[in-house]
Amino acid sequence: MNALDLILKKRAGKSLAAEEIIWLVTNYTGGLIPDYQMAAFLMATYFQGLNSKETKALTMALAESGEVIDFNSKEVVDKHSSGGVGDKTTLVLAPLVAAAGLNFAKFSGRGLGFTGGTIDKLESIPGFCTNFNTSQFKKHVLEHGLAIAAQSDKITPADGKIYSLRDVTGTVDNVSLIASSIMAKKIAGGAQAILLDVKAGKGAFMKSKEEAFQLAETMVRLGKDLKRDVVAVVSNMNQPLGMAIGNILEVKEAIQTLQGKGPQDLVFLCVTLGGLLLTLTGKARNIEEGKEIINEVLVKGKGFRKFEEMVIAQGGDASYIHDPELFPQATYVLEVNAPLDGFISSIDAYKIGKIAMDLGAGRKEKNAKIDHTVGVVLNRKVGDKVSKGTKLATVHGNDKNVIKEAATDILQAINISDISVEKEPLIIGCVPPLL
Ligand code: URA
Repeated sequence: MNALDLILKKRAGKSLAAEEIIWLVTNYTGGLIPDYQMAAFLMATYFQGLNSKETKALTMALAESGEVIDFNSKEVVDKHSSGGVGDKTTLVLAPLVAAAGLNFAKFSGRGLGFTGGTIDKLESIPGFCTNFNTSQFKKHVLEHGLAIAAQSDKITPADGKIYSLRDVTGTVDNVSLIASSIMAKKIAGGAQAILLDVKAGKGAFMKSKEEAFQLAETMVRLGKDLKRDVVAVVSNMNQPLGMAIGNILEVKEAIQTLQGKGPQDLVFLCVTLGGLLLTLTGKARNIEEGKEIINEVLVKGKGFRKFEEMVIAQGGDASYIHDPELFPQATYVLEVNAPLDGFISSIDAYKIGKIAMDLGAGRKEKNAKIDHTVGVVLNRKVGDKVSKGTKLATVHGNDKNVIKEAATDILQAINISDISVEKEPLIIGCVPPLL
């Protein structure tokens, strides 16, 4: 085999045999195929696509490029979100499902872009450790029912190398490449049941519902081919999820949610996703029963106690969980008020995410430092009635000029109409249609 023949074959729209894909990935990861040939192959794939057999082969090649965790027939679940503004779902969902009896094991990334990723958020808690080797990770999952660790370079190293190349060659946004990259990490992480939350809308990777459903369907089919139980929800990311956007601000909101004081949309999403995971694993007979179990776990504070257990087990200082006022706060907090009477017709998640990033909550480049204290807290959501002067949001920042600009930009991101507005449904659909 040689790389040029495989590039030409894909460029001509022919399908590759599994052995050819495995050969390409293995030799690229081993440094035997140069970046320029892999880049050409990725571009050919971008235009010609991969069929389901090729996608499966690519997924397994990526998964098996590093360690594949084996939980020795203990059923383990994982969840993936395609990312959105204010998305702190994992922080709430993981302890809820663990408290309901599932084993939740997640490797997560640091965020590039709008706000930090799950790992950045968790690292807002002093002492919280996310760097585990495989055996430590397994031990935490089996002892506590959950562990959330930073993506290690021992897991799917081929995906790390190929993703970096895709990032600079315009080949990220191809459904087969995205699906295999995401699912490879889930397979390597040892999950048998996988819940996917594919976001659609202004603040999401997938801007249209059609694209989001295409990705959801591809990943569910791929999961089936790989003998995993997979369900994908397509959820709305036109406005931010919950009220808080920014690392410490989101951790505080997750804590409030686990204490039964969360914003309605975040609670609804976490209860629904938790119910789906219980149904998928046979711990509930149907989604209604699953949601009831999760609701009870939430109301009885069992999810909060599980979160506390995870924080202590991973070395975090639990006093911050009990008294979130201990978290450091940004130097400046500025209120943004409604300029007129009316109804909120839209809150542009993309613009709010960009504001949070400009305040320092997200990374503009890969290894940039983030500021855990900064961000935006919304006071109103789409559909709410407001009067002139109603507080719409507060901006938290550490730079006087940046925060003033952010406050002005927020007014551009929130639209107010003089007629009442229908709220869009948060969950747009589910593949397969379990909801
Ligand atoms: N997230 C991933 O993990 N991989 C992709 O290709 C895109 C988003």
